[in-house]
Formats: sequence, C-alpha cells, structure tokens
Amino acid sequence: MTPNTGTRTLETPRLILRRFTAEDAQPMFDRWASDPLVTEHLTWPPHGSVDITSMLLADWVARYEQPDYYNWAISLKGLDGPIGGISVVQLIESPARGVRCGEIGYCMGRAWWGQGLMPEAFRAVIAYLFDTAGFMRLRASHAAANPKSGRVMQKVGMTRCGVERRAGADNTGIVDMVIYDMLPDDPRP
Ligand SMILES: CC(C)(COP(=O)(O)OP(=O)(O)OC[C@H]1O[C@@H](n2cnc3c(N)ncnc32)[C@H](O)[C@@H]1OP(=O)(O)O)[C@@H](O)C(=O)NCCC(=O)NCCS
Repeated sequence: MTPNTGTRTLETPRLILRRFTAEDAQPMFDRWASDPLVTEHLTWPPHGSVDITSMLLADWVARYEQPDYYNWAISLKGLDGPIGGISVVQLIESPARGVRCGEIGYCMGRAWWGQGLMPEAFRAVIAYLFDTAGFMRLRASHAAANPKSGRVMQKVGMTRCGVERRAGADNTGIVDMVIYDMLPDDPRP
C-alpha cells in the first residue's frame, strides 16, 4: 500500500493550498473562525478570542510531522494570509486490508463565498489524495439545512449516498446529515 504522503503544497489557478503556520492566527480568527455565520453548520463554536485560534494552530502545526495528517490553509494568490481551510477530518485506515478512506471538511471566510473557490480547492485535494496519497474512497457530509456545502460536493463530482437522520450536531443543534462519496475512477468535472 502507498505510504501516506502528508500535507504537501498544492496549486490551482487562483489558490495556493499550503500548511498552516502560527502566523495564520489573526487572519484565520478575523476571516472565518470567529464568525457565527461561517460556523453555523460546523461542529465547533466560533472562537471567542484569537488565543483559541493560536492554540489550535499550535496543535495543527505539530501534527504536520505525521505523514497521515492532511490539513491545508487555503490562500488566495496575491493576498496575505489564508481565507479558509480544507482537511481530512477523519482518516480510516487498515493497511493490512489496503484500506485508506477520508472524510473531508472545509470552511472559508464569507467575503470569498460564491466564487467557486472551495470547489477549486476541493478538486485539487481530491486529485492529490487519490493520485498521490493512495486514498480509495473520499466521503463528505453536510447538515441538511446547509445545502450550499452540498453544492460544493456536487460540483466536484461526488455522489449523493443519502441522508443519515439525527447523525450530526452543529451550532443549531442535532441535525440530519446528507452524505456524499467519491471513488478514484469517478468522473472529476
Ligand atoms: C460551503 C462553502 C465552503 C462554499 O464555498 P464557495 O467557495 O462559496 O462555493 P461556491 O462558490 O461553489 O458556492 C456554493 C453554493 O453556495 C451558495 N452561495 C454562494 N454565494 C453565497 C453567499 N454569498 N451567501 C450564501 N450562500 C452562497 C450557493 O448556493 C452556491 O451554489 P450555486 O453555485 O449553485 O449557486 C462556504 O459557503 C462556507 O465556507 N460555508 C461555511 C462553512 C461550511 O458550511 N462548511 C461546510 C460544512 S459541511
């Protein structure tokens, strides 16, 4: 089985996907982590202070030493600091059986919504995880009340599997989750 290859820098026409650094704390806090609208359908509450963002980043930066850690800062070319993030939020591996599957999560500052930037980032991550990092299946899920995230999953070519009732908890409470998946040979629009 291909070894894990970790978080490597990826480039798309408008974006650089790179590792987070400690210096990203303020833009991350200002642009998305403190925003209740961005986090409405996420599992974590908005950060109350930049210190929380800094502590989280310290943990993430330390984890980059692990080759099975995949977590990118999304950076817009020509703009300092990240505008969002995309990561493998859950890795399911069984090397003896040749299994490597990942659940993808993402979020971005609202100032950059609606320009197709997350689909652009996600396509690059999909290509990397399937073609370089040896993943055999990717999964993503969104709260039923957050269809804009489902649009991202559709745009990158994921297949809607169905709805798991009361399967998630976000900042609105217990929610039904819409599940999508993708295999390496699926079309990549
Ligand atoms: C979901 C999210 C990543 C989409 O990223 P994006 O780069 O804006 O994606 P797109 O430009 O392809 O837009 C996707 C959909 O968002 C909706 N949308 C676009 N601009 C919007 C805006 N300004 N306000 C609200 N919704 C908007 C539209 O429904 C759009 O679908 P369409 O292109 O068919 O009209 C982004 O809205 C976000 O970070 N949301 C908060 C965090 C989140 O929900 N993460 C996913 C958890 S599962």
